[in-house]
Amino acid sequence: MAKEYDVVILGGGPAGYVAAIRASQLKLKVAIVEKYKLGGTCLHKGCIPTKALLKTAEQWRSLKKAASFGVEVDNFSLNFTQAQTRKNEVISQLHQGIQGLMKKGSIDVYTGMGRILGPSIFSPLPGTISVEYDEDLEKENEMLVPKNLLICTGSKPRQLDVLPFNHTTILSSDDLLQLETLPKKMAIVGGGVIGIEWASMLSDLGVEITILEAFDKLLPSEDEEIAKALMKNFQARGMTVQLQANISQAQSTESDVTLTINGEEQCFDKVLVAVGREAIVNGIGIENTDIKIEKNYIQVNKNYQTKEAHIYAAGDVIGGIQLAHVASHEAIHAIEHMAGLKPDVNEKQIPSCIYSYPEIAHIGLTEQQAKVEFSNIVSKKFPLKGNAKALVNGEDFGFVKMIVNQDTDDLLGVHLIGDHVTELIAESSLAFTLDASAWEMGHTIHPHPSVSEVMQEVSLAIHDEAIHY
Ligand code: NAI
Repeated sequence: MAKEYDVVILGGGPAGYVAAIRASQLKLKVAIVEKYKLGGTCLHKGCIPTKALLKTAEQWRSLKKAASFGVEVDNFSLNFTQAQTRKNEVISQLHQGIQGLMKKGSIDVYTGMGRILGPSIFSPLPGTISVEYDEDLEKENEMLVPKNLLICTGSKPRQLDVLPFNHTTILSSDDLLQLETLPKKMAIVGGGVIGIEWASMLSDLGVEITILEAFDKLLPSEDEEIAKALMKNFQARGMTVQLQANISQAQSTESDVTLTINGEEQCFDKVLVAVGREAIVNGIGIENTDIKIEKNYIQVNKNYQTKEAHIYAAGDVIGGIQLAHVASHEAIHAIEHMAGLKPDVNEKQIPSCIYSYPEIAHIGLTEQQAKVEFSNIVSKKFPLKGNAKALVNGEDFGFVKMIVNQDTDDLLGVHLIGDHVTELIAESSLAFTLDASAWEMGHTIHPHPSVSEVMQEVSLAIHDEAIHY
């Protein structure tokens, strides 16, 4: 029997489940269809598990330098199985939390594969969802007939023709999360966000890391000074970084992989391929609609409507900035638009974070982009070495850089590298939202001692008024 809904959401990641909650708040009758578990890549294969393992790496680093703080710790060792167990416990707790939120919002959850049907006996419009279950469940398909459909099917790791995943020695980031033991020597292909986070974590845990990046710098979309500072830091920690690396061949055995890099052979125990992610648009019935796909991404307008006005899409499946918080934001926008509200999104206000050691965070334009867009900019830096709390913490590597339009004092970009700077960027997010000037940020009283004072100092530096530098 067909069931009718105001909204059906296909995919239960940070776009889908957040959209379901917002729809429920707006009193829409809502269902969510998820083939695996609510939480999506972010919770099960991305943000949360990697951050849990990065926390293990942080604990390890702390122990290694504990003696310099006057704490003598003897005989500590890494139990990677326990690190994985803890990671899984964190995921499980958050997963339960999302399930609780679904119940609280009276959201119907279907755990099966959702497929979009074309016009049918259920509706003259495409968009009816057929929920299909695993054969062993012996459960019949169910039909969900929505007034509006929101597609949030996300993305999966992209593979390289020369290095197809074999899931034992040539790995995706999904595979890496299942490792039971650490390799000795590993190549990371792609010096982007995923590559950098894994390189940092595995290097801290004792794995010999070589990063192979095709471009002429790490993190091609970050500010150049930040990318250079990270590269120097990684090299000082013993990692090998090879830029403009062209991999022409890969030969794998059961226990290792030999890569031909710029004509020379190098052997590794394992290879992580992290060269971007691609949208999941196949096998979900898009061909039964007029939805347009370009470069493998679903095309949407500024309110996230596809060519079928009652079908929306949000998150990684539409491309753009592939971040969990962006996905949630887009999905809320889509739901509010369906409900007749007038939501607004300004891409300038999206912070972006990398959780390596050191961490990296930014919002707005890089200095290179600002120079192209504005004729009169000022850019200033403030080092963490000039901050008392950073010294107290024993974490004084890094800096904050602010770029401002000199004619108006408007913030154009804020970039940070250093310990836990992903927490500091939120202040700049608020500043962007409130359209605050550098003067206003500099004259906001920050607590002392706190690492957050670097934000005040760099804002004062814009007008040559920094106190501690
Ligand atoms: P990415 O686009 O960030 O980086 C891919 C890197 O691979 C680029 O530097 C590119 O130049 C390089 N590359 C491409 N082809 C190559 C080749 N043949 N050989 C060597 N290098 C090559 O993609 P990544 O790191 O896979 O991340 C995917 C998405 O997931 C990104 O959009 C990212 O923002 C998101 N993500 C965000 C996180 C966060 O917010 N902390 C954490 C993890 C992922």
